Amino acid sequence: MNDYISDADSQVTVNLASRSYSIEIKPGLLNQLSKALGSFVSNEHVILVTDSNVAELYLESVVSQISEIAQRVDVICVNPGEESKSIPVCNELWQQMVDFNTDRQSVVVALGGGVVGDLAGFLAASFARGIRFIQIPTTLLAQVDSSVGGKVGVNLPSAKNMVGAFWQPEVVLIDPLVLETLDEANFRAGLAEVIKYGLIMDVDFFASLESSADLIGQREPEVLTRCIARCCQCKAAIVEEDERETSGRRAILNYGHTYGHAIEAVFGYGRFLHGEAIAIGMTCAARLAREFGMVPDSFVTRQTELFRKMKLPVDCPAERHDELLASMKHDKKVARGELKLILPVRIGEVVVLAAPEDQLILNSLKN
Ligand SMILES: NC(=O)c1ccc[n+]([C@@H]2O[C@H](COP(=O)([O-])OP(=O)(O)OC[C@H]3O[C@@H](n4cnc5c(N)ncnc54)[C@H](O)[C@@H]3O)[C@@H](O)[C@H]2O)c1
Ligand SMILES: [Zn+2]
Repeated sequence: MNDYISDADSQVTVNLASRSYSIEIKPGLLNQLSKALGSFVSNEHVILVTDSNVAELYLESVVSQISEIAQRVDVICVNPGEESKSIPVCNELWQQMVDFNTDRQSVVVALGGGVVGDLAGFLAASFARGIRFIQIPTTLLAQVDSSVGGKVGVNLPSAKNMVGAFWQPEVVLIDPLVLETLDEANFRAGLAEVIKYGLIMDVDFFASLESSADLIGQREPEVLTRCIARCCQCKAAIVEEDERETSGRRAILNYGHTYGHAIEAVFGYGRFLHGEAIAIGMTCAARLAREFGMVPDSFVTRQTELFRKMKLPVDCPAERHDELLASMKHDKKVARGELKLILPVRIGEVVVLAAPEDQLILNSLKN
């Protein structure tokens, strides 16, 4: 059935010389933490960072398991949502870490979605010039994207993810069963990033997603495990080539993101989840590539059909296109004033190109 990944592949290694680490993906892993974390936090001081939604579901069990092996566990619980990824919140939490007698031997463990992972990672990267860090991601987006690769950080009032660091975790522990409690919208939004990996670098994976779309939608644990593992392999391969986004290779992860970020910014962060915005963004990028003759119409149709199958939006709102264009030009991926776009050439391959004249971009926003 789903032969794109063998059973043995639920462990993925991110090879980064002395910063290498392993990603473990296993249903039920959240109930085996004393074993999984044994060699990382044995007799250490742990600062567990989470948000109140995740805390309600999993904190008690996680703290009790880590307490079996750690010297002591202090908990930092933030409000759910993007607002917690901010300097004022960090300011409070740095002080809390001092009050917890955090030192260079302490370990920060992030239990939550991308917000918690980015925030906790930034606390770890910045406190005492950097302390150890472990990721236990609990949303699909965090499991396939944000927990892997070492980008951590917070938002400024005027700019998302503007202050941060590259700070790799020591291990990433992924339990696909925690996705059972994730709401449908966030689950579907995570699938947009999953599909993105197929589109940018792995045609076989894309085909597997097409054939197992129903099982994935039903969150069938074994299928999800393979799917998450494949995504982590893809992300690891790119991060290994371009850890700090200097060669340009890592930029391909931004397929659909220049459009998507603009859609999020212009229509407000409440209207579209990030994954929804990038599904629309990838659709616009595909249309632009078709306009250039880079892909045939059948490419756009095939991509769009999978998004639809996964119940993701593909239509850009019909209004405010001038604002979208202006916002795209302000995206932080605009290097030296030049807007670059990631465009597909076939399923499994994209290229980075200088953006064309405004009118062509505006045309690509039209459904
Ligand atoms: N560092 C990176 O490379 C990177 C990459 C992509 C995105 N991000 C960042 O990730 C963030 C978005 O992450 P997200 O989509 O995971 O959002 P999130 O962390 O806000 O989580 C979404 C919601 O799901 C809840 N939740 C988490 N796990 C749950 C579970 N198992 N069951 C029930 N509810 C659960 C959370 O409390 C929250 O309300 C953004 O801030 C974005 O900038 C970072
Ligand atoms: Zn994204």
